[in-house]
Amino acid sequence: MIAADLVVRRIAELATPKGRAAATGTDLAKLTVLHDAAVACAGEEIVFVGPDRELDQAVELRPGGLTLDAAGRTVLPGFVDAHTHLPFAGWREREFDERLRGATYSEIAARGGGILSTVERTRATPLGELTALVRKRLDALLALGTTTVEAKSGYGLSLEDELKQLRALRDGAAGHAVQVVPTFLGAHTVPLEFRARREEYVALLVERMLPEVASSGLASFADAFVDRHAFSIDEARRVLSAARERGLGVRLHADQLADDGAASLAAELGAASADHLEYASPAGIEALARAGTCGVLLPAATFFLMTERKPPGRALIDAGVPVVVATDFNPGSCPSESMGAALWFACLTSRLTVDEAITASTLNAAQALGLASRVGSLEPGKRADLVVHDVPNRYHLVYRFGVPRIAHVVAGGKLAHGGGADLRTAAPSPSR
Ligand code: NIG
Ligand code: FE
Repeated sequence: MIAADLVVRRIAELATPKGRAAATGTDLAKLTVLHDAAVACAGEEIVFVGPDRELDQAVELRPGGLTLDAAGRTVLPGFVDAHTHLPFAGWREREFDERLRGATYSEIAARGGGILSTVERTRATPLGELTALVRKRLDALLALGTTTVEAKSGYGLSLEDELKQLRALRDGAAGHAVQVVPTFLGAHTVPLEFRARREEYVALLVERMLPEVASSGLASFADAFVDRHAFSIDEARRVLSAARERGLGVRLHADQLADDGAASLAAELGAASADHLEYASPAGIEALARAGTCGVLLPAATFFLMTERKPPGRALIDAGVPVVVATDFNPGSCPSESMGAALWFACLTSRLTVDEAITASTLNAAQALGLASRVGSLEPGKRADLVVHDVPNRYHLVYRFGVPRIAHVVAGGKLAHGGGADLRTAAPSPSR
């Protein structure tokens, strides 16, 4: 018998990708689907996934263990959000209103709004306050079914302020159910004080900030934004090559607003991911496929920016790129932290099927973060991160768009969100 601390029983539909590496091409849509299923967890891990009728012969619940009745509901792996700008201070709802009146994201950025206005607010916010914001946002993510999240700095743009953002992530994540993967995005944009001498900022990034960030252990990845208002291909290559030499993984904001050749740069650098990609060229997409670099679609951001060009979901899948769907949660281009919303837009604007979108937001997203051997699917040996959605099957997640229906979230084997009458505690066993 397998000992367990928590079992989820009578699951109407359990749907999961399988494996310890991203799925590509037609495999993206190949989910394992079980009806009347059960999952058992021991400690942080999954120890059983199978038919409910086999659970009693295979698994023994430890005294004090929990049973969660998922009758009529759907269980999926916890969402892995592989792209957020979480540790910021200050919303930008006024700029949003300006955009509704006709201003573009680029125009707002060009006159010092956009990213730079969040930089001002984030710099002015003390570490303790920023940490509290991070924690509050992690709570919100958990309630929306996200159990692993990548989070970028990039609103500090000075050594001290970037470190402050990364420390807020470390402190906010300490003891929290949501796992955080921190990314250093010092190359988000050139800060105001360096606008007339941008090469000095690039030198500062390469010679001072990256070495400090790498040796602090506060970041797993480095990222750069290639754009007319941010960094050139050559600048991003310098920064990310330096990051790689210091042992950080790399990722790239690529071809979001124009074809800058950034997808090809991501492939050349062996990046874990190239993100956005609305304007990526066919050659760039081919290069990503050859390099095995994940292509991260951020369709909620594309929608929110009212960008004509949709993320090239089908082209990426057809080319064999490991496709990921993430939010891009940030105060400018995606103020929503909902992976559910990212799925709606992935299906309804980038033409993914529901099954493809599920793989892209779980196992493939885990691969983009170097975590596919630990999270992203429901299989024995993986971290017990699962969501009980209050819908009869997985199609309802997108079909009934606009409303997340999350009943329970289990993270690291513990019930982290949701409660109520569906829970039973095992009686203490009679002493033997
Ligand atoms: O991913 N593209 C650049 N950075 C963010 C936007 C950040 C902001 O507007 O504050 C993005 O869309
Ligand atoms: Fe982003």
